[in-house]
Amino acid sequence: MTSNSKLPADFLWGYATAAYQIEGSPELDGRELSIWDTFSRTPGKTEDGKSGDAGTDSYVKWEEDIALLKAYGANSYRFSLSWSRIIPKGGKNDPINQKGIDHYRKFIKALKANGIEPLVTLFHWDLPQALYDRYGGFLNRSIVDDFVNYANVVFENFNDLVDIWITINEPNVVSFLGYCIGAHAPGRSSDRSRSPEGDSLVEPFIVGHNLLLSHAYAVKLYREKFQLPNKKIGISINVNWGEPWDESEESRAASQDFLHYTCNWFADPVYLGDYPSRLKELIGDRLPAFTPAEIEVVKGSSDYFGLNHYTTYLIKKRVTPLEENQNIQKLMENIELSTTYPDGIEIGPQADLSWLRPVPWGFKKLLEYLYARYGKDIYVTENGVIGPNEKNLSREVGLNDQFRIDFFDQYFSQIVQLQGIVPVKSYIIWSLLDNFEWQEGYTRFGVTWVDFDDANRRYPKKSSQHIKEYFAKALQS
Ligand code: GAL
Repeated sequence: MTSNSKLPADFLWGYATAAYQIEGSPELDGRELSIWDTFSRTPGKTEDGKSGDAGTDSYVKWEEDIALLKAYGANSYRFSLSWSRIIPKGGKNDPINQKGIDHYRKFIKALKANGIEPLVTLFHWDLPQALYDRYGGFLNRSIVDDFVNYANVVFENFNDLVDIWITINEPNVVSFLGYCIGAHAPGRSSDRSRSPEGDSLVEPFIVGHNLLLSHAYAVKLYREKFQLPNKKIGISINVNWGEPWDESEESRAASQDFLHYTCNWFADPVYLGDYPSRLKELIGDRLPAFTPAEIEVVKGSSDYFGLNHYTTYLIKKRVTPLEENQNIQKLMENIELSTTYPDGIEIGPQADLSWLRPVPWGFKKLLEYLYARYGKDIYVTENGVIGPNEKNLSREVGLNDQFRIDFFDQYFSQIVQLQGIVPVKSYIIWSLLDNFEWQEGYTRFGVTWVDFDDANRRYPKKSSQHIKEYFAKALQS
C-alpha cells in the first residue's frame, strides 16, 4: 500500500491491550480476584492450561510498554482499568484501593508525557469475583448501580487526564461467550459438560440488557458531572461483517439477521433507542424490554461508534440440522455461518485461530453499513490478526511477521479509500504485545514478540516498524 493519501493530522493510531491479558501481578497492591482469575485457573478452561496470572507482567513493566509505544511512533494507546484493582470487591459500599488508583494515574501521566493519547476502557471483562458471588454479576440488575459507582470513582480520579472513554468492551462477546457457549468467564452454558449451570438461550439476553443499562447509566452520570466539550465517551462493539453466501433473497435476509443478532442487538438501542423489531421477533420474550425511562437513558448514549473488527463470514439460511450443544447456532437458529462460497472457494486465508480469516473488503462494507445506519464518527478500537501457525514459531522466525504486515496494508487501505465518505477517526491495532488470549491461552497477536519463558522480554516484530513508517508518512502535514 502506498501512503500517498494523507490522513487528518488528528487521526489517532496506536495499539490496544486489556488489563487481564497483560497486567499479571494478581495480588499486588491490594488487587482481588476477578471472574477471569477464577475461570482461567480452572483446569480445562484454557488451551494451554494457563491463566492470566503472568500476563506480560505489564503491571510491573509498564515503563517498558510506554517505551515501546514511543519507539513505534504511536500517538495513542488503548488499555483497560482493572475494576478489581480500584474497588477490589467491586460494589458501591466496598472500599476503594488507593494503590490501584495511584498506579493508573502514574501510568496515564507517563503516557501523556510521552505524547501518547490514552483511550481508557472501564470494563474489559474482568468483573470482580465478589460481585459474581454476591448476586450473579451481570445476570442481576443490581450490577448497574455498582458499575455506575465504579465509573464515578474512575471519572473522579482520572477524568482530568483522559479525553476518550470506552465504558464496556464488546458486550456481545461477553454475552455470547460467557453465558451461551461458556468459553469465557464466568463460563455459563446449557452444555452440562462445560457448566453445571446456565441457560444458553436466555442468559445472554439478560446479561446483554444489564450491560447496556450499566453503560448507559454510566454515560448519563458522565454527561451530568464530568463531560467537557473536548471529551468523548462511548462503547466498543465487536462487529464482524456478514456477507450473503449467494445472491438469493434468503441469503440476503439471513445476512441481515446475522447483523441483528451480533451488532444491532447492542448498537440499535445505543444509537436508535431500542432493540431492532426483527430481533424482538426472532428472540421473542427471551429479549428483555426497556422501560420508556430507560430508553431515554440508553438512546444516544455513545458519542461515537466504537468498532472492534476482525473477520467476515458468509451467511445463509439454515439447512444443516442442529446438533445438541451447538449453543451459539441455536441462539441464531435460522441462519448458518460459512467460510466457503457455494463453489467451494474460501472467503480468505485461514489465520492462526479457527474463527479468523482476513477479508479486507468486508471491513469496508461494514464501515459503510455502520455509517449509513448510525451516522456516527467511527473509532476503530481494535483490528488485528495472528498469522498461520504464528503461535508455534521460534522467535527468530516469528519476528518476521509478513502476514500481519500484509493484513495491515490491506485493512488500512480500506479506511484510506473511505476518506471523505465515512468518518473514521482512529485505528487502534490489537495488540501491542503478544499476550493472554482468553480461552486460547498465550498466543501471538502482538507487534511485539514476548518471551513468555524468559521474564517476558519484549522484541519488536517487523510489523511495528512497517506500521510506524506508514503512519509517519501518512500523517505528515
Ligand atoms: C477481542 C477482544 C480482545 C482480544 C481480541 C483478539 O474480541 O476484545 O481482548 O482478545 O479479540 O482476539
